[in-house]
Amino acid sequence: MILNVLAVGDVVGESGLDCLERRLRSIKRHKDIHFTVVNGENASGVGILPRQAQAIFDAGADVITLGNHTWNRLQIADYLDENPYILRPANYTSRVPGRGWGVYEGPRGLRIGVLNLIGRCEMDCNFDNPFTAADHWVKNGGADVILVDFHAEATSEKGAMGWYLDGRVQAVWGTHTHVPTADAQILPKGTGFVTDLGMVGPARSVLGIRPQQAINRFLGGLPQRYEQADGPCKLNSVCFSIDTARGVCVAAERLDIEE
Ligand code: FE2
Repeated sequence: MILNVLAVGDVVGESGLDCLERRLRSIKRHKDIHFTVVNGENASGVGILPRQAQAIFDAGADVITLGNHTWNRLQIADYLDENPYILRPANYTSRVPGRGWGVYEGPRGLRIGVLNLIGRCEMDCNFDNPFTAADHWVKNGGADVILVDFHAEATSEKGAMGWYLDGRVQAVWGTHTHVPTADAQILPKGTGFVTDLGMVGPARSVLGIRPQQAINRFLGGLPQRYEQADGPCKLNSVCFSIDTARGVCVAAERLDIEE
């Protein structure tokens, strides 16, 4: 069968959550989506609360992935232990709650593995090597189809991961930068790849926050608590169509909505 997987970029704040709630189900219906993964680490601005995770599930996500802001809202810690459908990066070094890999039941009993990883370029350094962490789960995870959310800053690190896993997983997408990239593609050995999905949040903003606050930071003004920008929202996502018999991605299509 052709398995249509929708990967949705970082949901930013309450307006991003509202946009997801308004738009996700109709995208899934129109594009015949079988499985949906949403990055939720900015649902709280930085971090995510249990009620926001629930709102993402209610909007239509099958699995939530996270990233560098996982622990900005520590209220999520127990929820990560209790709910196997929300993942934090698998390459955290040690004793943190939750899990970074899950296998979920898809159509026709298909075992869909989702791996959440975090990059090390321009990030905190306290992570295991995401490339060797990926090796472990790809080899030992016990899934028929493998999807990877690589939450990373550097386009080079994300590109390298796509090529590193080409032919061994069915899709690799980047998250974190909130800026959608125009390089959705199928790599030579059949892995669907995009450097960054983008985000779900205020369209007229700098990564979701008020432009004036970003400008102030770069002008060297006093630090401010970032506030979410007002105005219309956008939803950035990519649909990966996977031929499950051959284990390859056959289409990678950007699905972007601007309200
Ligand atoms: Fe992030």
